[in-house]
Amino acid sequence: MFTAQMILLASAPFPVTARPPILCPMTRIPHATSGEPNPLRTLTLDRLRRRTSMKWRAYPEDVLPLWVAEMDVPLAEPVVRALTDALALGDTGYPAGTGYAEALAGFAEKRWGWDGPAVERTAIVPDVMLGVVEMLKLVTGPGDPVVVNSPVYPPFYQFVEHMDRRVIEAPLGADLRIDLDTLQQTFRRATEGGGRRAAFLLCSPHNPTGTVHTAGELAAVAALADRHGVRVVTDEIHAPITAGGVEFVPYLSVPGGENGLSLMSASKAWNLAGLKAALAIAGPEAAADLARLPEEVSHGPSHLGVIAHSAALRDGADWLDHLLAGLDDNRRLLADLLAEHLPAITYRPAEATYLAWLDCRALGLGDDPAEVFLQRGRVALNSGIPFGTGGAGHVRLNLATSPELLAEGVRRMVAALD
Ligand SMILES: Cc1ncc(COP(=O)(O)O)c(C=O)c1O
Repeated sequence: MFTAQMILLASAPFPVTARPPILCPMTRIPHATSGEPNPLRTLTLDRLRRRTSMKWRAYPEDVLPLWVAEMDVPLAEPVVRALTDALALGDTGYPAGTGYAEALAGFAEKRWGWDGPAVERTAIVPDVMLGVVEMLKLVTGPGDPVVVNSPVYPPFYQFVEHMDRRVIEAPLGADLRIDLDTLQQTFRRATEGGGRRAAFLLCSPHNPTGTVHTAGELAAVAALADRHGVRVVTDEIHAPITAGGVEFVPYLSVPGGENGLSLMSASKAWNLAGLKAALAIAGPEAAADLARLPEEVSHGPSHLGVIAHSAALRDGADWLDHLLAGLDDNRRLLADLLAEHLPAITYRPAEATYLAWLDCRALGLGDDPAEVFLQRGRVALNSGIPFGTGGAGHVRLNLATSPELLAEGVRRMVAALD
């Protein structure tokens, strides 16, 4: 395991006046190795920079990208095998069958002891966000309110507003957990006057804070939603990425969750965002809603996406476990580095996701510290502002990278303040 001390002892600080180098001279990235158990320690920076995806192309080469939710990992071997076989066969037509849903059902049973995602109550959708839009269309109409727990994944605002629904915020509490009193008041506000169909778009686990909602919290949410006639749509894309000792609870598995609609996908946990596919799952009492999903939605997902996601869920559990161990190490490393070098930043290692939500308000950098870290430190983090109420003064850091690049990112943040 890498410790903060090992990495920093091996590294020289930046010269204060110069732009931070792309890597500190003494920080070494391990060469690519096959069979490396921690997928986060497999790829060299040179190799990563050859990628053409958003994470690596949005900023100039002297910027270290620790922002959008892509991981610096190679593909899991079962996924590579499934895709390679498909390409060799020319199996590049339209998706068919229930293989993705069956793979998710098997994974859910083994990992969460949940036999809930019954194949007949699932539908393949193009990706999680388009799935969210389709589920919200099933249970709300134009102008209807959609409640979200801010700060939250920015597309929750953009996509919902684009589909002509009204976003209403129910901010998380100071402990970054759902504040049930606030949620109740917000449900009341969203439904007062009647005549409107309201929904709650739950992020579980929560992006950006990594909060994993407990069974008790989710049951309380379901009871509140039932009392106010609010339908729950839950985005569970980060469900497989839990920290050691933390248990994810599917919303549809809790009492009262039976009329919920969930979106799940292998895309975050196995880094498959470029291979479009996700699953919508209806609780038993929402089956009739899902049955109204227009046929054309099934034209969006890609057959190769379905093949890749199915292989990941069916055969990718060992790879995932190595990843999760590596993320546990990285959370500890980040906590140590920040405590030592940037103690004014408040960081609670997350219970899930590979995202770190950093409260930088005590640094006195204003509402958008990410801009300062980018301009002066050449490290790209997500600004907290688009995450809504509670986001100003915060940054989101993606720690799904090697320990060396993570340490380099912190060093650049330190350099930005010198
Ligand atoms: C909470 C959440 N939902 C959805 C997405 C996007 O998923 P997709 O690419 O399947 O739409 C992300 C991506 O980071 C996310 O964090």
